[in-house]
Amino acid sequence: MRLLKRIFAPRKPKAIELTPDLATEIRRSFESASADEQHFPSTIDPRIYHVKLVLSHIGPLGSGRVLDAGCGKGRYARIVKQHNPSATVAAMDLAVSMLGYADRDLARTAGSLLDLPYADSSFDAVYATESLEHAVDIGRAVAELCRVLKPGGRLVIIDKNAEHWGRLETPAWEKWFHRDELLSLLRRHCQSAEARPVSYWEDVEPDGLFLAWLAVK
Ligand SMILES: C[S@@+](CC[C@H](N)C(=O)[O-])C[C@H]1O[C@@H](n2cnc3c(N)ncnc32)[C@H](O)[C@@H]1O
Repeated sequence: MRLLKRIFAPRKPKAIELTPDLATEIRRSFESASADEQHFPSTIDPRIYHVKLVLSHIGPLGSGRVLDAGCGKGRYARIVKQHNPSATVAAMDLAVSMLGYADRDLARTAGSLLDLPYADSSFDAVYATESLEHAVDIGRAVAELCRVLKPGGRLVIIDKNAEHWGRLETPAWEKWFHRDELLSLLRRHCQSAEARPVSYWEDVEPDGLFLAWLAVK
């Protein structure tokens, strides 16, 4: 029985090194993925709890600055801008083709989570939804997200839970996270960090696939 369990258990993700070839493969993959509207949609229902949680944790921004790191087609950034019309909403992604779908009133920039093209302490809030899982060098990406946050700035990461690894097909470089793994990385840079399971709909019990990490620098 134990042997059968071992044979049929989802493969454990292997630690992967971010070589220049892999970095190119990831960027190319997302450049072409932008044509796939089904899996990489350009809109999101604002009633979805992930969106509401981003909005509530970053709070009202006034004329402040917020970064959507790995924004894809800018579906979250659009709603953040609608709620914060005076704020600068920076929408950054690895794939230029993804940015082509993002609204023109966003400050769109191509760049990498591993080397954010922004100054230290330049944002009041930062969020990353389902993008950190593609960064490969996760410690470096978390350090970058925190570097560009102002002291007291607020950070949201929504990504998949490593305990559910195997539930979805994933590219070879994708990584899902244990709750405490990201918490300990965040606590190196932030004064507080917590995590909780989230579901798409507020009135539906989370099934554990998604976790949200909420931090304050
Ligand atoms: C699953 S999509 C999520 C997009 C968006 N955050 C959303 O929720 O709609 C992942 C995005 O992360 C971007 N990405 C992957 N690796 C990245 C990196 N190292 N730096 C910046 N963006 C990256 C991809 O280009 C892609 O647009």
